[in-house]
Amino acid sequence: MTIEESIDRIGSEASVDLSGAHTSSDLESIKIKYLGKKGAVGALMKELRTSSGDERARLGRLINDLKEELVSRIAALFREFEDAELSVRLESESLDVTLPGRRRVHGRPHILTQVLDEATDILSGMGFSVQYGPDVESEFYNFEALNFTKDHPARDMQDTFYISPEVLLRTHTSNTQVRTMEGSNPPIRIIAPGRCYRNEDVTARSHVVFHQIEGLYIDKGVNFSDLLGTLKGFFATFFGCEIRMRYRPSYFPFVEPGMEVDIHCLMCDGAGCGLCKHTGWLEVAGAGMVHPEVLKSGGIDPEEYSGYAWGFGIERLAQLRHSIFDIRLYFTNDMRFLRQF
Ligand code: DAH
Repeated sequence: MTIEESIDRIGSEASVDLSGAHTSSDLESIKIKYLGKKGAVGALMKELRTSSGDERARLGRLINDLKEELVSRIAALFREFEDAELSVRLESESLDVTLPGRRRVHGRPHILTQVLDEATDILSGMGFSVQYGPDVESEFYNFEALNFTKDHPARDMQDTFYISPEVLLRTHTSNTQVRTMEGSNPPIRIIAPGRCYRNEDVTARSHVVFHQIEGLYIDKGVNFSDLLGTLKGFFATFFGCEIRMRYRPSYFPFVEPGMEVDIHCLMCDGAGCGLCKHTGWLEVAGAGMVHPEVLKSGGIDPEEYSGYAWGFGIERLAQLRHSIFDIRLYFTNDMRFLRQF
């Protein structure tokens, strides 16, 4: 094949390749194939060395023409493809500012956490600091140190989940009382929020897991009316209104005297309704003056110091605040229920 024939052949091969190119990366490979360092046009130039004189000049021009033609056709196609590719990209990335936004789903604390946090805030404002006791507790702190002797019938009142004969899931936040007394000297003024566990049937009114806030105040000369004033102050702030209260004597081994605290029904204002079971009163707490034996367990001299303690149920407070009739709702993860708070 003469050089001239080679020029023609390469010219037509390049035309075929160019007509089959659709993207700028196709063009890139064609450019390398013909115009690259080891490309076809370069090879022609090398071949040119075999001819001489006018012939060489003529063929040189032909090769240069071919080269220029290829350069300009490739450049033109590049522009064309790049424009097309750009408009495809712009199309796919276009932003319709009139489309409605996507609603962000906001999480929020569970209703029990909200009530717990709020009660904690109020009590902190009244001078109580927060202590946390363990959920997995020794039989000693949950019972023994609180004046529940080994065969005390009150142990049966609290159906306990035992892990071993000595270790259990705490049945109340009162387990934090003697732990705190051991760790500090009076005056002691703490609250202990947390989870409690009892082996009970799950019903609208009872559950195996629930939350309490324990309160404990020990100092010289603490008396029963301090306890009543604190409870009244707390409930008035928590419920946001003046609260009528009633105290019923009750028995808890770790307080003497002990009582259960009722407030007048917030739903019916004492007239009688489903929430208060037509009594006009709602039970909200157990409380009393810390038993001398408990002070002794905590290394505090009952001749010198006295104290009061209480336990609130958080589920109960949330129930009264929001008229929730079935405490199982707290734990069933039903978003229709939870989103209301
Ligand atoms: N721990 C008791 C319970 O769970 C509640 C209670 C009653 C706590 C009287 C107290 C108290 O601190 O003084 O039933």
